[in-house]
Amino acid sequence: MLKGLSLIQPNDLTVSEIDEICTLAEQIIVDPSSFQDVCRGKILATLFFEPSTRTRLSFEAAMLHLGGTVEGFSDASNSSTSKGETLADTIRVVSSYVDVIAMRSPKEGAALLASKFSECPIINAGDGGHYHPTQTLTDLVTIRALKGGFEGHTIGFCGDLKFGRTVHSLTEAMCRYKNVKFVFISPEELKIPDWVSNFLDEANIPYSTASRLEDVIGDLDILYMTRVQKERFFNEQDYLRLKDSYILDKAKMELARKDMIVLHPLPRVNEISPEVDSDPRAAYFKQVKYGMYARMALIAKILGVL
Ligand code: NCD
Repeated sequence: MLKGLSLIQPNDLTVSEIDEICTLAEQIIVDPSSFQDVCRGKILATLFFEPSTRTRLSFEAAMLHLGGTVEGFSDASNSSTSKGETLADTIRVVSSYVDVIAMRSPKEGAALLASKFSECPIINAGDGGHYHPTQTLTDLVTIRALKGGFEGHTIGFCGDLKFGRTVHSLTEAMCRYKNVKFVFISPEELKIPDWVSNFLDEANIPYSTASRLEDVIGDLDILYMTRVQKERFFNEQDYLRLKDSYILDKAKMELARKDMIVLHPLPRVNEISPEVDSDPRAAYFKQVKYGMYARMALIAKILGVL
């Protein structure tokens, strides 16, 4: 039952609810205008305590395309948080004005905490280095559209697997499909955290690790590139040392399968050379578009209007 649900982590959705959302997103893509009024009279609040371009604008565009309205803030210094208000109080107040809240915070667990105090559903738009479930829905809609489904793929995650919440979220979601294999490509310092690898171990899901992208790129159906998450480093020196660990370029793409797709949640810094953008396997800008449709489907389902 999606109506009224708070989405904090991908596994708050069952596999069949994910299918339901993907199917609705596909219907919206085919005929967006027939959905332009379904959220008339509904309000989405976007509370972003951390910078964002895509995710916030994607949520706002999604709600506007559904005929709803949007309010919120993109900078916590403009909100009462700067006066010392607690998250619990901010959420109590905002949730009494609106129908659904999308929130992003630098703190792990903030969305879960918010959901305990909210009168309306909370959608986690990123909580620190923890989870980012609507990016995962974006990724899943993209994978279903471009690869025909979720089963049997070998997916390689490359870059900052320690702090990359998109990686943690998509791993959690993809674990539930048959015969999915994971390859984690990172420097030692940025490897997948134990809470994610323990989860794979307990579920008996095969995965391997690599330090060179060239060594494994030829085995992949999906390559998920990520940015080194500068804002989560304690030390500038470490960031500078690690930031260019991986750069996907034309030469590396030549080692990849003809039908591999390259995903990236964006923003990219240096990790994908612009020369890759014209490669038909580069799917990261298509992924952005799928993200808006995924969020439209999610909002409509959570509000119970479809
Ligand atoms: C990601 C995020 O915020 O975690 N971006 C996004 O939501 N599209 C990835 C990132 O910032 O590197």
